[in-house]
Amino acid sequence: MAISFILNGQRVDVDGVPPTTTLLDWLRERARLTGTKEGCNEGDCGACTVMVTELEGEQLLHRAVNACILFLPQLAGKAVRTVEGIAAPDGRLHPVQTAMVAHHGSQCGFCTPGIVMSLYAAHRTGREDHDDVLAGNLCRCTGYAPILRAAAAAAQEAQPDWEWDETAALTQLAGEDMDLSGAMLPASLDALARAYAYEPEATIVAGATDVGLWVTKQFRAVEPMIFLHRVAALKQIEQTEDGLNVGAGVTLEALLPHMAARHPDFAELIRRYGSVQVRNAATIGGNIANGSPIGDGSPALIALGATVTLRKDRERRTLPLEEFFIDYGKQDRAPGEFVESLFIPDQEDALRCYKISKRFDQDISALCGCFVIRQAEGVVSEARIAFGGMAGTPKRATKVENALIGQPFTPETIAKAAARMGDDFTPLSDMRASAEYRLRTAQNLLIRYYAEASGDMGATRLVGRGAA
Ligand SMILES: Cc1cc2nc3c(=O)[nH]c(=O)nc-3n(C[C@H](O)[C@H](O)[C@H](O)COP(=O)(O)OP(=O)(O)OC[C@H]3O[C@@H](n4cnc5c(N)ncnc54)[C@H](O)[C@@H]3O)c2cc1C
Ligand code: FES
Ligand code: FES
Repeated sequence: MAISFILNGQRVDVDGVPPTTTLLDWLRERARLTGTKEGCNEGDCGACTVMVTELEGEQLLHRAVNACILFLPQLAGKAVRTVEGIAAPDGRLHPVQTAMVAHHGSQCGFCTPGIVMSLYAAHRTGREDHDDVLAGNLCRCTGYAPILRAAAAAAQEAQPDWEWDETAALTQLAGEDMDLSGAMLPASLDALARAYAYEPEATIVAGATDVGLWVTKQFRAVEPMIFLHRVAALKQIEQTEDGLNVGAGVTLEALLPHMAARHPDFAELIRRYGSVQVRNAATIGGNIANGSPIGDGSPALIALGATVTLRKDRERRTLPLEEFFIDYGKQDRAPGEFVESLFIPDQEDALRCYKISKRFDQDISALCGCFVIRQAEGVVSEARIAFGGMAGTPKRATKVENALIGQPFTPETIAKAAARMGDDFTPLSDMRASAEYRLRTAQNLLIRYYAEASGDMGATRLVGRGAA
């Protein structure tokens, strides 16, 4: 059996290729569509950007994604449009292409197809936050000013009269069974649970923003693979009586507006997470399940008191998220058990998140601190503080929390609590930051939190004395 998708309006059926074949390799080597470029081959430069369209309910969802870390089976039942497929059949350029020419948005042009595709997806969806849209597209020679001028000009133009509607083709694909040797593509939660219980050694693939690099950079063997993207139940976000239930397959980009409405600092953290292309693929379940000590989702979710629900065959269990992380590379997850959902309890927003990275946009955290601290009559009544990048796992600063709870919310309390940071964490030195930098910065983030929450900007005087 094959997998089928729509490529620039035409149905393609693919069989007899390894499931680790990336869309980029397939486009360039098999389909001979070489407009999509290879730069970094790890999701960082955007030269390989394409637009993927899928049906969610009756709605078409268009997303810019990086083809270099997208496995071919992830396209099963979807439509993909490359830079060769956006002009009119008679050769008239798309408004984004016309604007790039008119505003001199390209010099060597290697980055140009990816930039055009990011702008095309933005034009198609009506996005005009072009700084964010282009944060994942590196251009070394043109400079961004002409590109941003082109983006603004294109945004004034209507959708061209030849714009495609893939609804009918995608509806037809949705009803078809698909399979590829070495890849399982379950279409329901039960089928996924059965498949993983039967084959617990399989690699689960959600957005492939981690697994993709295992293949393209580390040449790891990851077959057999179980792909999650056909399981609609994993993509649900549901407001319950007492909180938000988030399916493990929800992408960071889909989660962003929900957090903007509830916890704006979490939304801002997500906005700085990778790029639009990465957030359009990466799932919150993958960000948790990979157990990364520097994943950005976990500290925020732990500070919010989130729980995680795991499923193995027919059995489910729920635990506080911080208990899921046991040690570096070790999670509380049995063979055949997968992350089904996360639950964020309703609460008045008090979350503050600070991501420290070498580059502001599209960079992995050196450390990330998330704080929920509440007071009653000037006394700290609740403190949930979690850090990424400070230990082998995302971890709560329990000693710091205990030094705060029951104490007056004053600079002195903060100084004493910050001094406990070293009891909670023994960070490591690596290419992102030294151990000393991490510890001092974590202390300073608590002080910064206090300065912002109390409005006492003079609180920064604590830096370098009591706290350190
Ligand atoms: C360019 C780039 C920038 C990035 N920037 C950031 C950043 O700023 N912040 C950040 O935190 N991360 C970042 N990442 C890392 C990555 O995007 C995240 O870790 C991501 O959330 C992983 O999700 P995914 O759906 O892509 O997971 P996948 O790659 O599909 O899977 C990751 C791991 O989780 C497992 N898995 C996935 N889903 C489940 C499930 N439901 N149950 C059990 N196991 C599962 C997989 O088997 C695998 O072990 C970046 C990555 C790239 C390539
Ligand atoms: S080639 Fe750089 S993001 Fe794909
Ligand atoms: S035009 Fe050369 S890298 Fe962008």
